[in-house]
Amino acid sequence: MAELPFSTLDTLDPKGKRILLRVDLNVPMKDGKVTDETRIERIVPTIRELAEKGGRVILLSHFDRPKGKVVPDLSLQPIATALATALGRPVSFAHDCIGPDAEAAARSMQDGDILLLENTRFQPGEEKNDAGLSAALASLGDVYVNDAFSAAHRAHASTAGVAAHLPSYGGRLMQAELEALYAALENPERPVGAIVGGAKISTKLQLLENMLAKVDMLAIGGAMANTFLAAKGLQVGKSLIEKDMLDTARTIMEQAQAKNCDLVLPVDVVISEDFIAGAPTQVVPVTSIPDGWMALDVGPETVKLLQSKLSGLKTLVWNGPLGVFELPPFDEGTNAVAQAAAQLTQEGKLKTVAGGGDTVSALRHAGVLHKMSYVSTAGGAFLEWLEGKVLPGLTAISTTLEKTLPI
Ligand code: 3PG
Ligand code: MG
Repeated sequence: MAELPFSTLDTLDPKGKRILLRVDLNVPMKDGKVTDETRIERIVPTIRELAEKGGRVILLSHFDRPKGKVVPDLSLQPIATALATALGRPVSFAHDCIGPDAEAAARSMQDGDILLLENTRFQPGEEKNDAGLSAALASLGDVYVNDAFSAAHRAHASTAGVAAHLPSYGGRLMQAELEALYAALENPERPVGAIVGGAKISTKLQLLENMLAKVDMLAIGGAMANTFLAAKGLQVGKSLIEKDMLDTARTIMEQAQAKNCDLVLPVDVVISEDFIAGAPTQVVPVTSIPDGWMALDVGPETVKLLQSKLSGLKTLVWNGPLGVFELPPFDEGTNAVAQAAAQLTQEGKLKTVAGGGDTVSALRHAGVLHKMSYVSTAGGAFLEWLEGKVLPGLTAISTTLEKTLPI
């Protein structure tokens, strides 16, 4: 295992210290209630460890995109309640993340207390990585711990700037995310494969290029696959394609060959004339998609092909659904392949790391969210990692990466 680029909590004695802990409480909410607790559950171990060892835990997070203004509907206060329930410990709340209210709340803390500060994005300086805001945040703590891998692609005051002022660490969730990504892509047990789905090559171009260089097998699904099929000269009816990406798709196929990466495209598809639930469907080979029909999922032969490819792998990275999984029956391909990956994982034959965008909902829909080796809490940050980008939130706490960012 490659060494992590930051100090972990193994090297921090939190007792009596004010710990500024950046978490990601940007959780889905409806009518003032949290609808998916995953991100909350995953930060519990870090908070508990720090509090139980006598740290004074001061939590920082953004919520949604208030764009530097106080938007009462985007307050973190309701999330303090959900967090307290998940922790089984009280969580107090301050109505700003800096200034007199935050300072007074932080001053009154005892060892082991937990305080949540208001949405960092209510501050206009947050997204600008403003030096004044970074210093003001830092003045509340003795050390900084970043446990928000899912916000590490943002160079903001609470994810980047603040770290320049304080001894900095990665929390347990940050550590788990990075260990999983290292095990999947930096130093994987081979053969390593990737399944990449989604609608557009244009949004995943850098990701595909980076993955080609790292994996032995790259399976492409979702509407993106249609553009590859069209680039091979096949008729794809009225399937969604990106016409201006046909050359790019050809280049990617050539690169795959040059790099000896097995690029796997669908061999059959589930098609329909209409993009609506209950519309009649057919399964056809990719060589015979009729005019006026569109591919909305991979077919059973492709599922079999992918199942056999998976059984030859030791490691799998999964990003994106293989079909329009939100609209049954076009979820069947994703479900079947995800279930196959889950089964191999459960049998100890495959290490599976999944994340980014729609992936978590697709895996939850397939009933296998908890059967993968690791599912990332990150959307955009996971994608940027797969693209090979350096994440500013990691650079800021790094002991090894060069700090080239304006922090
Ligand atoms: C996320 O939900 O992906 C992170 O919390 C980052 O949120 P953002 O896309 O609004 O920066
Ligand atoms: Mg987002």
